[in-house]
Amino acid sequence: MSAALSFEQAPPLSVPHRFFLTGPLFGVAAGVLVALRGDEVVLSRWSMATFAAVHLVTVGFMLQVMCGALMQFLPVAAGANVWRPRLVAGVVHPSLTLGAVALTAGFLGAGADAMRAAVVLLGAGLTAFVAVTGLGLARSPAIGPTLLLLRSAVAALAVTAGLGVALAAIFAWGAALPLVQLVHLHAAWGLGGWALLLVIAVALLVVPMFQLTPPYPVRFSRGLGLAVAGALAAWTVGVVLDVAALDVVATSFGVGALGAFAVKTLHLQSKRRRKVLDTTVFAWRVGLGCLLVAGAALVALRLPLPALARARLEYLLGVALVAGAFPAMMAGMLYKIVGFIEWLHLQRVMAVPPTMQKVLPDARARWQWRVFTGAVLLLVGGALWPPLARLGGLGFAAACVILELHLISATRLYLRLSAAAALETPATP
Ligand code: HEM
Repeated sequence: MSAALSFEQAPPLSVPHRFFLTGPLFGVAAGVLVALRGDEVVLSRWSMATFAAVHLVTVGFMLQVMCGALMQFLPVAAGANVWRPRLVAGVVHPSLTLGAVALTAGFLGAGADAMRAAVVLLGAGLTAFVAVTGLGLARSPAIGPTLLLLRSAVAALAVTAGLGVALAAIFAWGAALPLVQLVHLHAAWGLGGWALLLVIAVALLVVPMFQLTPPYPVRFSRGLGLAVAGALAAWTVGVVLDVAALDVVATSFGVGALGAFAVKTLHLQSKRRRKVLDTTVFAWRVGLGCLLVAGAALVALRLPLPALARARLEYLLGVALVAGAFPAMMAGMLYKIVGFIEWLHLQRVMAVPPTMQKVLPDARARWQWRVFTGAVLLLVGGALWPPLARLGGLGFAAACVILELHLISATRLYLRLSAAAALETPATP
């Protein structure tokens, strides 16, 4: 990957922002659902309330934020031009939004028609997104581990979406497919493939850039990619051919990769050039801590356990990844990325644009981070005493409301300043 960033290729601000402004709303819905039906969520990973909550976060929140970030990030940082970004965002964004609503409604009892709508909308939206970003990445002249990880993440998203559509087809048309195996594959490719690979790829760039740490060593980054690929390959062959021994190989590679990534990032953060601790660093620490908890839960789940302990550990694993690790790191990134891209666009139209700090002050981000961390602790506590999960759901919803309000206020500031700058620019005759 070339070190130089090409800001000339950045898409219009509305492209990433429409995704960023939508994501947290699904986070609010997920939190409210857990507040209402937290007992079912703690009880079993196979309950419909759990599936709905998982997808409100993964498809509703994470996918929106990641699509917006990739549309912004690929041309600038990976030399991968996204074909007609405004048009693509205009198709992908509503498809993902309505698709996530339909999928959740389908899980919550709205019937086969809702699932059919989810298959069409999410299938079409994700096909368009994967095709456009995949083509841009395939044609990119850049080299290096970030590009490889990004390509692998987009490929893993395609596999996840394909498996998700197949699963939804079971609900929608009663397709005769092996449900449990498909869920095992889909969940691993979604969380261990797409989400983990993307977070690692983005971290290689944004952690050194925004947190002023030394860079990740190239061989280490390559090794991470290989370990995740090894884990997914072993898991897939193990599930498809029913070879139990491969489960140990997959767990070793997967836990090794996420553990090494978390420990290395914490280590790099401890060597930051600027010692002032801003909220992004805290948010990442919470996220990385959750990754380590998830790793420990994955190992513990390989032990012979009574049914109740297994269900609670599965809940803990879900909370650590779906409510903790990925949303924490994404919210941390959002505070930096939104401040940065607004500054980037404003400095084209204003002599003195507001700094990133002015667009999204750290004191605001700190509030969001505190509420979010409290919510994750309550959700984790739900593994021991289930009523805490409901409170955690409320906290998660509150943290997402705060995030949304901050993003709205940053967008309004941008609109106000760019409108004022347009008025000041003399019209060309
Ligand atoms: C793209 C990111 C996605 C991620 C990270 C993801 C993640 C997951 C996870 C972790 C599970 C297992 C939940 C549990 O064990 O409690 C699951 C199940 C499922 N997912 Fe997804 N998912 C994604 C996208 C999709 C899409 C696009 C669809 C449909 C179009 C979908 C449909 C399903 C279905 C139907 C199930 C199983 C429900 C059942 O067996 O009753 N997912 N997903």
